[in-house]
Amino acid sequence: AGAGLVDRFGRVHRDLRISLTDRCSLRCTYCMPADGVPWIPGRDLLSTDELVRVAAVAVGMGVTEVRLTGGEPLLRPDVVDVVARIAALTGPGGSPEVSLTTNALRLPALAAPLAAAGLARVNISIDTLRRDRFAELTRRDRLHDVLAGIAAADAAGFRPLKLNAVAMRGVNDDELVDLVRFAADRGYEMRFIEQMPLDAGHVWSRVAMVTGPEILATLSEAFTLTPVPGRGSAPAERWYVDGGPASVGVIASVTAPFCGSCDRIRLTADGQLRSCLFARTETDLRALVRAGADDVALEAAVLACLAGKLAGHGIDDPSFLQPDRPMSAIGG
Ligand code: GTP
Ligand code: 5AD
Ligand code: SF4
Repeated sequence: AGAGLVDRFGRVHRDLRISLTDRCSLRCTYCMPADGVPWIPGRDLLSTDELVRVAAVAVGMGVTEVRLTGGEPLLRPDVVDVVARIAALTGPGGSPEVSLTTNALRLPALAAPLAAAGLARVNISIDTLRRDRFAELTRRDRLHDVLAGIAAADAAGFRPLKLNAVAMRGVNDDELVDLVRFAADRGYEMRFIEQMPLDAGHVWSRVAMVTGPEILATLSEAFTLTPVPGRGSAPAERWYVDGGPASVGVIASVTAPFCGSCDRIRLTADGQLRSCLFARTETDLRALVRAGADDVALEAAVLACLAGKLAGHGIDDPSFLQPDRPMSAIGG
């Protein structure tokens, strides 16, 4: 564990993203089918003891940021306990900062207990502010609940509060300016994401993807954008809106990959460690944990996974193959 989580390219990994469940309370068309989703069977899901054990090993190896994802992480019944237990871990870098990416539906009930349990930040997905469009896109008429969830996160004091939207041609690309105004007016950061080939239907197309440069061109017609310096390993490139303090981010994973500074590893809800969103192989930590492996064996498995990490996602390679798992089963 001493050397930390360094891969063949010298990238130091400090960020562990843990998917708490592959279930979701919405059915965004770009992410999940309407029905017949092949859920991970319950016996294959890591128990809370098991996932905290893996997180403890990772924190011992230098992880300082843990992000909880899904599906929808707030559907896990003991999510508050999961947060408290992970926030209490310690390693060479101290205790991890614990954050969560959510659709916000359960935040009215959970924002305050999550904050009390030690959750530092939440990022909230909201692709549209129009009720009919939201219902069509997510197949659930619940925009009102998302807005209540955002307000609850705000009231619980989570800062900075970031809102994520996947920009989609002909779906919400006429709303980018409205979304920035909505966020900026309330002190949140709006971030637009290029759609990646991680959809359940494997129908992603480069043509349908709204690119980072297109997003910037649209925003520049309404706002004066000035670059925010100091990006580090963050996926978003950020701009001040009309001189600040409001800012907007663009996550251009496809056209401007940040793989060169990637510091992330991912644990799926069924206990598979992935060195990349687009990894073709996984390391079965669940089998090791259930076979009684000690920490040294788990550390060796984590390092072996990292040793297989590729330089980048390879979406532009002619031989690119979309991973079998959709985003909902990896955790975004
Ligand atoms: P912050 O710590 O607040 O910056 O969180 P984050 O942006 O890393 O997390 P979030 O879950 O909000 O991610 C937003 C989007 O960024 C995801 O939906 C993905 O589209 C993209 N993203 C996050 N991590 C990665 C990654 O490792 N690789 C790629 N290609 N995209 C990623
Ligand atoms: N490409 C980029 N982002 C995606 N998300 C879901 N699917 C994709 C995709 N194919 C986003 C969601 C949410 C986050 C968890 O991941 O919109 O903001
Ligand atoms: Fe890291 Fe893979 Fe994402 Fe690139 S695509 S930033 S290597 S997880």
